[in-house]
Amino acid sequence: MVKVNSNYLKLKAGYLFPEISRRVNVFCEANSKADLIRLGIGDVTEPLPEACCRAMKLAIEDMESHKGFHGYGPEQGYLWLRETIAKNDFQSRGCDVSPEEIFISDGSKCDSSNILDILGQGNHIAVTDPVYPVYVDSNVMAGRTGSADSLGQYEGLSYIPLNAENNFEAEIPKKAVDLIYLCFPNNPTGSVASKDQLSKWVDYANEHDALILFDAAYEAFIQDSFIPHSIFEIDGARNCAIEFRSFSKNAGFTGTRCAFTVIPKTLKGKTANGDIVDLWSLWNRRQSTKFNGVSYIVQRGAEAVYSSEGRAQIKELVSFYMKNAEIIRDNLSGSGYTVYGGKHAPYVWIKTPTNIDSWQFFDFLLNKANIVGTPGSGFGAAGEGYFRLSAFNSRKNVEEAMRRISSL
Ligand code: MLT
Repeated sequence: MVKVNSNYLKLKAGYLFPEISRRVNVFCEANSKADLIRLGIGDVTEPLPEACCRAMKLAIEDMESHKGFHGYGPEQGYLWLRETIAKNDFQSRGCDVSPEEIFISDGSKCDSSNILDILGQGNHIAVTDPVYPVYVDSNVMAGRTGSADSLGQYEGLSYIPLNAENNFEAEIPKKAVDLIYLCFPNNPTGSVASKDQLSKWVDYANEHDALILFDAAYEAFIQDSFIPHSIFEIDGARNCAIEFRSFSKNAGFTGTRCAFTVIPKTLKGKTANGDIVDLWSLWNRRQSTKFNGVSYIVQRGAEAVYSSEGRAQIKELVSFYMKNAEIIRDNLSGSGYTVYGGKHAPYVWIKTPTNIDSWQFFDFLLNKANIVGTPGSGFGAAGEGYFRLSAFNSRKNVEEAMRRISSL
């Protein structure tokens, strides 16, 4: 009989968001008339920017003629998109990132898990707690951890707590680690990292020959100019960091699928024999074998994000969701909840009322207010006692959700 990957059996329950959907479906079957408001998964609700739609329509017209038709594209993405990204997202901020170091993909969720393909066994791995569950689960699936304990923490992983006591700052671990996952603006807590904090991580990584996997999927939501958008704004990051970026949240591409990963050519790793190799070549080899690129049409849509119209429309979209976040913050504070985040990220991180755990609060909001959120414990043991509300919804729904919560 075929042998399965037994590492999958170590995973705790279902992946968080499908598990929430499962519970919500059960609720809806029993309450078919309930007018549910979904502030759970961070999925955008507003239409795509007009500039992106227009670019994609033109790209479809290209595909109608022999002259404009595109078959397989480069596995790394079209150079015109990589050049546009390098110039606008990095060089304009003083970051030394070249177009060749940018790999276009269909999502940061995929890239942040696929990256394990080029990393060896035996790395000591650190994640924050709470954490975007994909980083942990993908390591479990790849056999890079032991089993989970009763709190759901996996043997072999180091957990860096992010909590109100440490101001949601990721503290440098006392013991040396080889691989560190950082996400700022943070999912789920909505916290940000200053230049000083990121510099400490970069110095640590360079000192210990460690690699930082930096997830910047929410950088567009940063409101203060002094907060870094990219790890490559920090001196020395080219020798120790990979960055994941996405068009999902800024430009609403969750259903359209386009993202990118930056791997500096200066980034090195060690083979089992101690030989030094560059990570860019390994990822390039991986992508050439396992990936056929993002469609021409979608890449044209992503390119339009950087047009002057595209920029203006994205600014408006981001402001729209950030206003939702402000409404959530203000209303919940007004109702006596302690709230964090929501100032530079589309997530508000709420302390659950005393003696109510995260899933109990989930059930409470679902049953009493027909609101779906995300229980903090789904993001890790340290998320217990917290709850995440997403700002991705219509204004009407966000206002109605707040009205329902304040009248509970
Ligand atoms: C979330 O809600 O945490 C995100 O939508 C998940 C994702 O981007 O995959």
